[in-house]
Amino acid sequence: MSVEHKDIKRIVLGEDEIKGIVSRLGAEISRDYKDKNPLFITVLKGAYIFAADLLRAVTVPCAIDFMAVSSYGDGTKTSGVVRIVKDLDTKIEGRHIIIAEDILDSGLTLSYLIDLLSARKPASIEVAAFSIKDIKGKRPAIEPKYVGAHVPDCFIVGYGLDYAERYRNLPYVGELKEEVYTK
Ligand code: IMP
Ligand code: MG
Repeated sequence: MSVEHKDIKRIVLGEDEIKGIVSRLGAEISRDYKDKNPLFITVLKGAYIFAADLLRAVTVPCAIDFMAVSSYGDGTKTSGVVRIVKDLDTKIEGRHIIIAEDILDSGLTLSYLIDLLSARKPASIEVAAFSIKDIKGKRPAIEPKYVGAHVPDCFIVGYGLDYAERYRNLPYVGELKEEVYTK
């Protein structure tokens, strides 16, 4: 068991559950994108493990590219305005795009990114979100076509998700103990 495990309050999505989620999403995408050669766009870093597993669950020809963005604002809240730190290598005009996202919170980052990419005239843009945070009384700015799991409104790490760059290597998704980020 990973040494990071002691900081985890409870497991939110276990390894087997994650496998089931990813293979379901892969099957849905494979069914919808036959002969479309979709281009997966992965926003670094959080989504990289999800994207790696998702691509192996997709059975139709497809490609992948990566972007890195940083959010403007005070550092604690997403402002929804992003700056491109690393742009795509691929020309997306006329391509079918699927953005692979780790977790949708407010959805502001993603909604800004979709506007930005739409200006490049792709044939279509959809979102595959591994998880969506259920926040009472709030709906995210966008509704992804492919949704892995709904997770409770708490801070989660693992399976690519970090706190201060740690815990990405946990093979499951867990709730981080409050004492880890309040001390
Ligand atoms: P949004 O713009 O509010 O949807 O922010 C989404 C981004 O915030 C995600 O891509 C994650 O990088 C990060 N994030 C939101 N909630 C969590 C969490 O519980 N754990 C780790 N990262 C999170
Ligand atoms: Mg992050």
